[in-house]
Amino acid sequence: MTVEPSAVTVAASAPERSGAPVPLPAPTWWRRPGLDVVDGRLSLNGADLEALARDRGTPLFAYDMARPVENVRALQGALERAGVPHLVRFALKAGPDPRILAVLRGLGGPGEPGSIGIDACSPGEVLHALANGWRPDEISHTGTNVSERDLDVLLAHPIYLNLDAVSQLERVGRRAPGRTVGIRVNPGAGAGYTEHLAYAGDRPTKFGVTEDRLDDAIAACRRHGLVVDTLHFHAGSGWLGDQLDGFETALARATRSLDRLLAAGFPIREVNVGGGVGRVARDGELPVDLDAYAQVVARHLRPYRVTAAFEPGDLVMKDAGVLLGEVVTVERRGGTTFVGLDIGWNVNCAYFIYRYAQEIVPVHHPLRERTQVVTVAGHINEAGDVFAEDYPFPAVAEGEVVAILNAGGYLQAMSMTHCLRPTGGAVYLERQPLP
Ligand SMILES: Cc1ncc(COP(=O)(O)O)c(C=O)c1O
Repeated sequence: MTVEPSAVTVAASAPERSGAPVPLPAPTWWRRPGLDVVDGRLSLNGADLEALARDRGTPLFAYDMARPVENVRALQGALERAGVPHLVRFALKAGPDPRILAVLRGLGGPGEPGSIGIDACSPGEVLHALANGWRPDEISHTGTNVSERDLDVLLAHPIYLNLDAVSQLERVGRRAPGRTVGIRVNPGAGAGYTEHLAYAGDRPTKFGVTEDRLDDAIAACRRHGLVVDTLHFHAGSGWLGDQLDGFETALARATRSLDRLLAAGFPIREVNVGGGVGRVARDGELPVDLDAYAQVVARHLRPYRVTAAFEPGDLVMKDAGVLLGEVVTVERRGGTTFVGLDIGWNVNCAYFIYRYAQEIVPVHHPLRERTQVVTVAGHINEAGDVFAEDYPFPAVAEGEVVAILNAGGYLQAMSMTHCLRPTGGAVYLERQPLP
């Protein structure tokens, strides 16, 4: 990428399609140790992001390798303060790169204080976790529509298996009678950044044994001698501070199933509350207070004297990475200003799939006032390939580099070569984690 910034900028006073008020001060909610403004330019762990993009080319993911450690420790700290006996297993799909896994493994060896396990959702992820240094007893598998071929791999390893359908219990029971398993229940209540990300609610979803099928699940376990030691649920993903009560409702409903499993005589020792804690995408959104989250879990689970297990993905990884792209078009069409980037939803599907609208920051003037309202779009030949709509943005020129924030979770792993566009590179930047 050798393009110099061109002289094409958009007049700040041009009429706008949206009613969003401009000018606005630049959003700065995202500033933190590691990701900050240095000499007026955006910097990650001391690296100038524009220089990095010019040097390595775009699209480029840039990771702060200390952030996952800080994020795990923040969750563990809140759980300690709330007095919750706990286990954290990283949802591997959020960051499968071996360099990231090495950082997380570095939190502690098997069984050591501060160490974390892995939650896998496919046989491939189980094998990847084993190859990257986790022991089978540190790995759980929480899958959906698990086939006989999947079970060939899963049953070959003494991992925790959370099964999410009566038919799964039958299938495992036939192949491994007497095995210890977990049951993933669908609590019929959920929480998510958008409705697509709520994994349980009034409408049935594909996940988990619903309360009306729990007796059938119990009967299947009895028939095959399966020992149920874990109750699992996952309310949904990306939920923020204003949805803690949604999570709490899901947890309260899940304890109704817990009561029934205990009454049926199963030795439940772990309640897995899934993942789902999200990260603020834009100014004005309410972050999750981890102490409040931990206290909700403590309040509901303390009477049962179980271990609470957590499977965070985005909480660990989302704010650990940014995605750099080059502005290749600035043009008005029908009253809307389009800012076109050299990246597409093939590398950043956050808005395309989940409607998660990330903050976008021009790297060489991150604090410039937001004087216009734009649509930021990608280079895939689909109209839906946009990253932000009606978005207050500073004056910007073709050739400039922008950083899409909170791009650290899932996105690189989900990248594809749609339209034969490149998936982009990645740089992994070290920093001493905060104590
Ligand atoms: C069962 C299960 N656990 C954990 C996660 C991780 O979710 P998050 O990244 O929202 O924390 C997911 C995500 O889909 C999931 O399905």
